[in-house]
Amino acid sequence: METIIKTDNIKKSYKMGKTQLEVLRGVDLSIKKGEFVAVVGASGSGKSTLLHILGALDTPDSGSVHYQDQRLDRLRWGKLNHFRNKTVGFVFQFYHLLDELTVLENAMAPAMASVGTVGWPSLKPKIQERAYGLLERFGLKDRIKHKPYELSGGERQRVAIARALMNAPPLLLADEPTGNLDSQTGHGILEAFKELNAEGQTIVMVTHDERIADQASRTIQLLDGKVKS
Ligand SMILES: Nc1ncnc2c1ncn2[C@@H]1O[C@H](COP(=O)(O)OP(=O)(O)O)[C@@H](O)[C@H]1O
Ligand SMILES: [Mg+2]
Repeated sequence: METIIKTDNIKKSYKMGKTQLEVLRGVDLSIKKGEFVAVVGASGSGKSTLLHILGALDTPDSGSVHYQDQRLDRLRWGKLNHFRNKTVGFVFQFYHLLDELTVLENAMAPAMASVGTVGWPSLKPKIQERAYGLLERFGLKDRIKHKPYELSGGERQRVAIARALMNAPPLLLADEPTGNLDSQTGHGILEAFKELNAEGQTIVMVTHDERIADQASRTIQLLDGKVKS
């Protein structure tokens, strides 16, 4: 199958006072379209750093990241924003929903951002319909007018998944999506990912939980700043 995203020898370090903390020391990986990959490793092994680089939220110090034929780590501002908005969807451990917006508005946010104020009035009905459909799919039909703080953790994460999928991104990136949930609720989130993957969604999910990782179709382990082979 076709490769969707690929890194070559990426390195990333952080300055800690006088010393350099080398987090990624030459990471090579390649994800194929339609895969569900779990990235595992100890706390502090660079999983989030790697995921942020794959989603163009961060850049490596050296090495390259290709999304299909596009060199991600060299994208300029306009194309970078487009990539972040259209090509990747992000799900975080602590949801990162906006508390002042309703559930429906949170789910629609990526579409609002890409359409802008001019196109909004004419496109709003379609966007609302899509957001509603996604929320319904994830069991949130009766919650659309609620604010995130009125929801349980599992519900919040399902809103975050709906939001991540709003613009139908080819690549879904999730950073410890079950990390803040009890195991049963976490299991529900994982089932949602598995279903999405069965429908063709490419997913890269960071987790430090082996049992969660086992559910993915492939596991990549980060060890000493590299992919353990
Ligand atoms: N912006 C930053 N500045 C300095 N150190 C950072 C920064 N981001 C991450 N780190 C450090 O890099 C290491 C890897 O972090 P991270 O990618 O978050 O690991 P993981 O997600 O596997 O727990 C950790 O030691 C962390 O403290
Ligand atoms: Mg992390």
